Amino acid sequence: AVIHRGDYTAPAFWIDTVDLSFDLDPSKTRVLNKMTLRRNPDVQAQPLRLDGEELNLARVLVNGQGTSFKMDGNQLVLENLPEGTEPFALEIFTTCVPVKNTKLMGLYVSNDSFFTQCEAEGFRRITYFLDRPDVMAMYTVTLRADKAKFPVLLSNGNLVDSGDLEDGRHFAKWVDPHKKPSYLFALVAGQLVAREQRITSRAGKDHLLQVFVRPGDLDKTEHAMNSLMASVAWDEARFGLPLDLERFMIVATSDFNMGAMENKGLNIFNTKYVLANQATATDVDYANIESVVGHEYFHNWTGNRITCRDWFQLSLKEGLTVFRDQEFSQDLCAEPSARAVKRIEDVRVLRTAQFPEDAGPMAHPVRPDSYLEINNFYTVTIYEKGAELVRMMQTLTSRAGFAKGMTLYFERFDGQAVTCDDFAQAIADANPGSALAALLPQFKRWYSQAGTPRVAARGEYDAAAQTYTLHFSQSCAATPGQPVKEPFVIPVSLGLIGAASGAALPLSVDGQAVGGSHLLVLTDAQQSITFQNVAEAPVPSILRGFSAPVVLDFDYSDAQLLALLANDTDAFNRWEAGQRLALRSAINSIASSANSTSATPLNDAYIAAMRAVLRHPTLDAAFKELVLTLPSETYIAEQLDVVDPQRIHAVREAMRLQLATALHADWEWAFAVHENNGGYRPDPVSSGRRALAGMALNFLCLAATQNGDSVWPGKTLQRFKDAGNMTDRFNALQALVNSGHALAGQALARFHALFKDEALVLDKWFALQAGTSDRGGQVLPAVRQLMAHPDFNLKNPNRARSVIFSFCSANPGGFHRADAAGYVFWADRVIELDAINPQVAARLARALDRWKKLAEPYRSAAREALARVAAKTDLSNDVREVVDRALAD
Ligand code: ARG
Ligand code: ZN
Repeated sequence: AVIHRGDYTAPAFWIDTVDLSFDLDPSKTRVLNKMTLRRNPDVQAQPLRLDGEELNLARVLVNGQGTSFKMDGNQLVLENLPEGTEPFALEIFTTCVPVKNTKLMGLYVSNDSFFTQCEAEGFRRITYFLDRPDVMAMYTVTLRADKAKFPVLLSNGNLVDSGDLEDGRHFAKWVDPHKKPSYLFALVAGQLVAREQRITSRAGKDHLLQVFVRPGDLDKTEHAMNSLMASVAWDEARFGLPLDLERFMIVATSDFNMGAMENKGLNIFNTKYVLANQATATDVDYANIESVVGHEYFHNWTGNRITCRDWFQLSLKEGLTVFRDQEFSQDLCAEPSARAVKRIEDVRVLRTAQFPEDAGPMAHPVRPDSYLEINNFYTVTIYEKGAELVRMMQTLTSRAGFAKGMTLYFERFDGQAVTCDDFAQAIADANPGSALAALLPQFKRWYSQAGTPRVAARGEYDAAAQTYTLHFSQSCAATPGQPVKEPFVIPVSLGLIGAASGAALPLSVDGQAVGGSHLLVLTDAQQSITFQNVAEAPVPSILRGFSAPVVLDFDYSDAQLLALLANDTDAFNRWEAGQRLALRSAINSIASSANSTSATPLNDAYIAAMRAVLRHPTLDAAFKELVLTLPSETYIAEQLDVVDPQRIHAVREAMRLQLATALHADWEWAFAVHENNGGYRPDPVSSGRRALAGMALNFLCLAATQNGDSVWPGKTLQRFKDAGNMTDRFNALQALVNSGHALAGQALARFHALFKDEALVLDKWFALQAGTSDRGGQVLPAVRQLMAHPDFNLKNPNRARSVIFSFCSANPGGFHRADAAGYVFWADRVIELDAINPQVAARLARALDRWKKLAEPYRSAAREALARVAAKTDLSNDVREVVDRALAD
């Protein structure tokens, strides 16, 4: 049944303490759950309804006595509980079957070890409980298991006792000193080894940090541990938030639905976000590990100490924690240019994943109003758009003001389960003179209104008066259930560049000099601003640093964009100017009536500008690589009303080939200058150099394949063989595979042989082939073969994603086939996966979110595939919600 935000009521009972005992056995685990409960005096007396799923119930005792109970669907209902508000004891004994748990929610087995995942509603698959985040309890956990098979026994908090039992079994007892909601419960049991690090906090407290992995993986834990130490130090330094536990553990598992989970004191991670050494992980992997380790650690305060009242408030912890991990990664950058690169990367994720979500059938506000399945709402809107809301709050209160707001938030709500309103109010109250405080009710429309606002701007220069006026208007398209939107509060960071001089012009507003950048806060549907003393015709640099999550429409001329690309002092808008130029060429070429794609969609001025960026003496390599990367097919598709994916693919490929040939000498130069980077270090500067060298190789191989030349492919194969790190090796492999060169086959075979025992590297091998550029439909048959490969395993989410998602969600040119075979494949996989793991299936189901924009014959074929899935009567709620919303009008 659909759950509505407005239906929230406080729980009728509180659970104060939980004492759990586990007898761990993969095929039958016994769980004894002893709780102390009391009635919530603020709620009318009613029966106790406990959530449970796929549990075998053996016994229920109240204050030590048998009691009557009944089942109502998945709920255990107790009607004859003691009256009054005195605490009483409830004891529940159940069993479950971890080895059969393919959903990977609750208690499951992976590689012969036990793991748990309880967020959002997995704890009910372990025991009967009030499985909702506003019920916070103190936990004591005793684990018992075979000592030889499960030598390590972990749970939240502190280890208070352990020892041997009869029959080769042993036990460990853990006490969590902090109360917590059930979704933060965790246990781990298995053959694991740990890298350990002792640290002392600023306040002089000692802590033990541990990273647990399978034996053999210890040599891949150094970066995760370094990231964890950096996270602890950063949260203390930037927000005054210290580690509040004696021991902080991270455990890696290769079977995990998401990235990682912030269980109190016992974070459980997908191996993908823990394991790295230079031979097996790329620079991107290193950066992801840093940010995910940070993210989960930062949840210890934003999520765990203060949690969500209900799941509609999910962005309270996720948006805020993404913002914090983004800031963490930026603060770790030594150079300002690297900070800008990180910002561009974050915005690129937002625009290629969140903007389409906000324009499609699954569009929802950052604080949603309803859901059928909460797992479907762990989205880029809740996470990334939620982070942008927090970022705007910081922009409207200043960095120092925002930190004060965080302090007030913890003063008010530490230890509580609260709402997004509570957070916004605290930030505003700590900054009474701020624009946020002045505009709070309107600002909060960002939480309630879905959809991406569009800001249209137009400029007028009065040469005689030396004034420049920018006129703004804002609008937001309807989204499902929200036909009309009220204006948003939109902070717009502005600057002016001299059109002729290229100089950054000093800004003067209302007779006041305001420096080189000015923050205009839009609140109305229409609004203008006038700058004085503007000595020459300017080019406006609008939405600097992407100061708000909106689409900006400004009718820039090519010359203006070239001026911004060459001269803007704001790195984000400099990059953005290049993207706009490329996008314009792509759209013109797509729209041109020609049946065949032009070989030269890009004009000479653009090519010359790209050459200037590539050869620029001071810009750093990471930034150059971003500028030289064309807008993705997905991003181009979002700009069009009717989408022909094959046409977009053909045009973008033509643009790539044009860059490859027109800049051939420049790519040779760039490779030569960036190919050697000394000893491996995954820092932003050397990562950027490797990325640019990799890009150069990609273009050089592409041109060579086209010309039937084999010099660069030969050099690339040699670099692939000799590479001293995975980044260089994989970039070389990718250059051969994506150019479709004949040498790709032997490189792929060699790569597989080298890494056949490294699961995460094999994932890359699968993903590269399933995601490679389509040339006449060769990818789908290759994907079918990959699924028949002995190393393929549909039950392992990472492996399933590496093949199926890389094709259906990340390879539009391969997936959208005129013969509909891509969609048939998609529907088969959604149905097949739904029987194993509904969460993973529902993510895959989202691949056809934007089907209504497709041109024929794609549109009808996509609808047919969706309808075939929707016609199944036994779908999970997860997939049901996604396909029904996609088909709704
Ligand atoms: N809270 C986790 C994180 O963002 C994600 C957990 C998602 N779990 C789920 N079943 N949807 O770090
Ligand atoms: Zn999170």
